Amino acid sequence: MSDNRGYPDYRFLRTLEREPGSLPDEERLRAINGPLLTWYSEHARDLPWRKDRQAYHIWISEIMLQQTRVEAVKPYYRRFMEAFPDAAALAAAEDETLLKLWEGLGYYSRARNLKKAAVEICEKYGGELPASWKELLALPGIGSYTAGAIASIAFGIPAPAVDGNVLRVLSRFLGSRRDVSQASTKKYFEEILTKTMDRDEPGLFNQGLFEVGALVCVPKGAPRCADCPLSWLCRARMEGLWEEIPVKASKKPRRVEERTILVITNGSQVAIRKRPDKGLLASLYEFPGVEERLALENEKDWKKAASAVGVAESDVESVKSLGEAKHIFSHVEWHMTGYHISIKCPIPQPYVSADIRELETRYPVPSAFEAYRKAFSEK
Ligand code: ADE
Ligand code: SF4
Repeated sequence: MSDNRGYPDYRFLRTLEREPGSLPDEERLRAINGPLLTWYSEHARDLPWRKDRQAYHIWISEIMLQQTRVEAVKPYYRRFMEAFPDAAALAAAEDETLLKLWEGLGYYSRARNLKKAAVEICEKYGGELPASWKELLALPGIGSYTAGAIASIAFGIPAPAVDGNVLRVLSRFLGSRRDVSQASTKKYFEEILTKTMDRDEPGLFNQGLFEVGALVCVPKGAPRCADCPLSWLCRARMEGLWEEIPVKASKKPRRVEERTILVITNGSQVAIRKRPDKGLLASLYEFPGVEERLALENEKDWKKAASAVGVAESDVESVKSLGEAKHIFSHVEWHMTGYHISIKCPIPQPYVSADIRELETRYPVPSAFEAYRKAFSEK
């Protein structure tokens, strides 16, 4: 048939569905293996981590792709592979070099876990990732999604890789109103996929689902069902449900934290400090600040800020507003106001006195501070 584009004709299954939606989930999923693989072979994006199937490459890319868009990941992936071409190089990485490379990607615990896992891979497995879903899962920072992606793509093991995009695609395809923020929903999809997914090409099958999620069954706006290899058996499409699915329980609103960021300089030297080694943005560098919003134009606030950072009035040359900025983390929002304080004396203790250029080259400064770092380094 002309609109069948050479896919195996699984559409006879539609005729089995006497009542709309009566086909069991398992059979509906089993039917997509062929069409999905054919479509993927024609539509796969050319991505840097798809040039080979080396487990190390798949692993690093999958960790970067968690919470970060493909386009944003590409340059990070390339730089990472130049710096750390294999697990042995990563295991030997300096923490600060690693975090510097990760700067801007966010969720820094991912980078720390990568190094921990690399050390373990070298000690236990001679520097190569294990070809076992269970052993992969036991490594730091590797959950069922990542273990499934590596096992299937690098080693051809039939293990599902269910992330947020796959949850959206499958929920729509099956017409499922299960809450996708529940662990039990992910587990349910993992269990049926384990039974039904293509056993010859599990890696291509999983990547086919990623591709459907990225190219046709998109997270924002209307899905492009006319171009989708699953459309002929998709319940959301047949029953007009895409706006209602996926169902996601509303999250509680993020906590808002007000802060005042102080960029203190003396000539080309700038004051920074290392954050505590636990909690948000652990061990990264930041500008000093105060955990409330101050207006330094007013005497009382100025005194508060100056004493909090240990700057004496007589050492101050100028104070200028750097404006407002906002940074959104998963559970917190920072609403910031910033000031540039130029001082006449050396950077006071206990701050690290860094050369301004070293903010780019040496110290990992999280992108939460980007607005102030940029405003300032362009001066
Ligand atoms: N999203 C998650 N994993 C991916 C992959 N391997 N390729 C493209 N997008 C992805
Ligand atoms: Fe998504 Fe439409 Fe494809 Fe169904 S047919 S999976 S709703 S793009």
